[in-house]
Amino acid sequence: MGKFHVLILLLVFFSFSLFHGGLSRAIKGKSQGGSEEEWGYVQVRPKAHMFWWLYKSPYRVEQPSKPWPIILWLQGGPGASGVGIGNFEEIGPLDTDLKPRNSTWLKMADLLFVDNPVGTGYSFVEDTRMLVKTDDEAATDLTTLLMELFNRNESLQKSHLYIVAESYGGKFAVTAGLSVLKAIDAGKLKLKLGGVALGNSWISPEDFVFAWGPLLKDVSRLDVNGLKKSNSLAEKISQQLKDGQYIDATNTWSQLESVIGANSNSVDFYNFLQDEGMGPVALTASEFSNGFFSVNRYSRYLSSLRVSPGNGDGDLDILMNGVIKKKLKIPDNVTWGGQSDLVFSYLAGDFMRPRIAEVNELLSKGVNVTIYSGQLDLICATKGTEAWIDKLKWEGLQDFLSTERSPLYCKEDQATKGFYKSYKNLQFFWILGAGHFVPVEQPCVALDMAGAITQSPAAAEAS
Ligand SMILES: *[C@@H]1O[C@H](CO)[C@@H](O)[C@H](O)[C@H]1NC(C)=O
Ligand SMILES: *[C@@H]1O[C@H](CO)[C@@H](O)[C@H](O)[C@H]1NC(C)=O
Ligand SMILES: *[C@@H]1O[C@H](CO)[C@@H](O)[C@H](O)[C@H]1NC(C)=O
Ligand SMILES: *[C@@H]1O[C@H](CO)[C@@H](O)[C@H](O)[C@H]1NC(C)=O
Repeated sequence: MGKFHVLILLLVFFSFSLFHGGLSRAIKGKSQGGSEEEWGYVQVRPKAHMFWWLYKSPYRVEQPSKPWPIILWLQGGPGASGVGIGNFEEIGPLDTDLKPRNSTWLKMADLLFVDNPVGTGYSFVEDTRMLVKTDDEAATDLTTLLMELFNRNESLQKSHLYIVAESYGGKFAVTAGLSVLKAIDAGKLKLKLGGVALGNSWISPEDFVFAWGPLLKDVSRLDVNGLKKSNSLAEKISQQLKDGQYIDATNTWSQLESVIGANSNSVDFYNFLQDEGMGPVALTASEFSNGFFSVNRYSRYLSSLRVSPGNGDGDLDILMNGVIKKKLKIPDNVTWGGQSDLVFSYLAGDFMRPRIAEVNELLSKGVNVTIYSGQLDLICATKGTEAWIDKLKWEGLQDFLSTERSPLYCKEDQATKGFYKSYKNLQFFWILGAGHFVPVEQPCVALDMAGAITQSPAAAEAS
């Protein structure tokens, strides 16, 4: 009942002429919280429809020298929905109980959630052959979407766009960053790219699989026998990658996860201080074999973090296929998450491919790159992230590595929340006490970080 009140639209109109394709349209509304929202589909290729949802911040600060930023949030998976998970579970204006989120990143920027790549969340294909098989294909589609949104909108063009990614989204972010730059240079895209931020991102799978065993051994979650088994599978993956056997490497990765699960009594890959399935819902066997990046796993883990006493609500799937689907006027036959598993399978040949070279390229082109990492993450562990950073060929690397870092605090809290350092256009945030989902587990310091990443005029006011 209360939900519907929150969702009342003060202003709704359809504009069928804005975008081509029968399903493509922009819908505009205003939430009770005061943030203006727009959403719609863009047909990025024939039979391939991508869904976007833009929130204009009610906290906007006008400062002539600093444009109000837009964050494009890219979820991982591949196949996990930014419109669902990133929005309602991490940084959007409302949580899954449709209550306001105090730590929403709208306090620092406008938020653009996109269900990327096609087949994810509300995005869909009419023919599964239209699903993407590589990060580059995904980047091309995303660039097409940005051309539709930005090219005819002078007000959007005034902002800097920051691509902020989590997990597998980091691979999409770096390939999309390069694709966006190319389109800008070619005069095809009117947009100012502010930077790219990689949160616990799967940039170099090989470095992560080599980090898992030693990290878990150091914190007593594996013994020397488990460590040996883990390392030997990591070696196998390394060889498969050298030989270009990417699908085999994906299969070995899955095998390695099972071995670690069995030898650690099911450590949680998103926070190694926890057991997998510690949340309210036990995992079924089929979900277990489905890979740790599965969409179900994400939302389970996140709902296990949520404290909602005496409230049975909050199941993301019910929300996204219920009141939100209705509000957004998603076509009846589109199921949120209905094609997500296919997205993962179609990308199996690219899943283990590293994207370090793309980070190099962004850095050498002068794009601001932020890397942030939750201390307790296993799947994209800080140890693995530091290992791939060491492999950068960027000329500033040695100076970056020798730069001293500074502690981070939040508000009046005296406790150390993390560390930070930057050199030229690369900056790194180490976030303490958070696993894979930094904005969920450390919302205060994550919000400050969002302000810093986007050079938000709201951040300048707060400090
Ligand atoms: C909400 O945020 C404000 C300022 O950012 C803070 O003072 C307050 O304690 C927060 N409230 C909750 C419930 O977290
Ligand atoms: C939904 O129905 C429309 C119209 O019949 C069709 O074009 C579209 O392909 C369908 N979508 C899905 C995901 O099946
Ligand atoms: C484009 O800009 C106008 C303001 O000029 C705004 O009202 C409109 O909602 C924008 N469209 C999109 C898709 O953001
Ligand atoms: C890029 O980073 C530098 C150094 O932190 C900063 O001064 C500049 O404003 C950033 N540019 C953008 C577009 O965010």
